[in-house]
Amino acid sequence: MAGKFYTIDDFDVEGKTVLLRIDINSPVDPNTEVILDDTRMKLHVKTITELARKGARVILLAHQSRPGKKDFTTLRQHSKVLTRLLNRKVHYVDSIFSTPAKIAINNLRPGEVLLLENVRFFAEESLKRPVEQQAQSIIVRELSPLIDFFVNDAFAAAHRGQVSLVGFTLNTPSAAGRVMEHELNVIMNTLDNVESPCVFALGGMKADDSIMVAENVCKNGTADYVLTSGLVANIFLAAAGYDIGQVNMDFIKSQGYIDQIDVCKRLLEEYPDNIIYPEDVAIEKDEERVDVPVDNIPNYSIFDIGKKTSARYSKIILNAKTIFANGPAGVFEDPRFSIGTEDIINSIASSKGYSIIGGGHIGAATVSMGYENKVDHVSSGGGACINLLAGKKLDAVEALIDNKSRHVYH
Ligand code: 3PG
Repeated sequence: MAGKFYTIDDFDVEGKTVLLRIDINSPVDPNTEVILDDTRMKLHVKTITELARKGARVILLAHQSRPGKKDFTTLRQHSKVLTRLLNRKVHYVDSIFSTPAKIAINNLRPGEVLLLENVRFFAEESLKRPVEQQAQSIIVRELSPLIDFFVNDAFAAAHRGQVSLVGFTLNTPSAAGRVMEHELNVIMNTLDNVESPCVFALGGMKADDSIMVAENVCKNGTADYVLTSGLVANIFLAAAGYDIGQVNMDFIKSQGYIDQIDVCKRLLEEYPDNIIYPEDVAIEKDEERVDVPVDNIPNYSIFDIGKKTSARYSKIILNAKTIFANGPAGVFEDPRFSIGTEDIINSIASSKGYSIIGGGHIGAATVSMGYENKVDHVSSGGGACINLLAGKKLDAVEALIDNKSRHVYH
């Protein structure tokens, strides 16, 4: 992939204004708005510092969570954490292209950094449209005249074709930041060298992404096994005909995934030997963890895969030569339900196979277990990483490639 898009090395940014899209979407305590994990912000320090040291005026554009979620907050706290991590003041303005935002941009001096407001506060950001239409969005029309370069370092959001990720690349010189560059190089290189048996361990809450990935990696023959856990596993269990209890069905419905049950039914018919779902699960009863077989799940919320399942999954992972994991197996923040996630991470760390762990929660769990150096690559991206591994093109990366193919800036 190297050479297909511009990088920071290709542009002289001294005295120029750079719009830098980063992904600092972080776990936030919804009551206090305190940021619980700064891993993603730490990763971007390299790109921001490099641009600032080279004398660019750096405008940061980022999102936090999704509309309707409890942690859909402003980026005020993020600016404070970034100030600490960068050891330089990160100015913050609580809008994106209002007059105060434009004044703040115009007041920036070379080497200074300004964080704009959560870009998902801007309604057009959620629209899915062709790049040409995204480039016509008001945010692009308002900010483009103020910038010289667009740099995309938001690998973790690169699978989204949203305005802030693809809208500026049509007419502004655009490059990948250091995080984007590194992630693409490592992951594409791994994909070129996949050794069998190859295992995908897919858990977490973004079940639609994971189910799409399960389908693609079974279809294109990359995966020998897809080990399902978390909400993904519950959907597969329902698809396999198990009674997972009304409370768990209601939860699937509340997350908008009820249609995925039919998709999973089809996948189980097409790939019965590849897709593996739990044989037991853990529920909470009288404040205790109770492991129950999947053919006898009472009407209690499922919070983890069961111990027999995690032992089986661990064995498969230990024998694998390539392992990709994304999403925790359960509510690992609660020690009663962290066994599945910890067993999966433990077996990945002990396996001799090449391993990539997708970002977000399972990445944070890997770091908190002190295993980040025992895994070959902990990606900053969850969905982006797993989509790339599934052989899908990432909209934001395609936009950067297209920018280079159409424009010569030297
Ligand atoms: C992530 O956390 O995976 C990225 O920030 C993308 O977030 P999204 O799934 O809400 O688009």
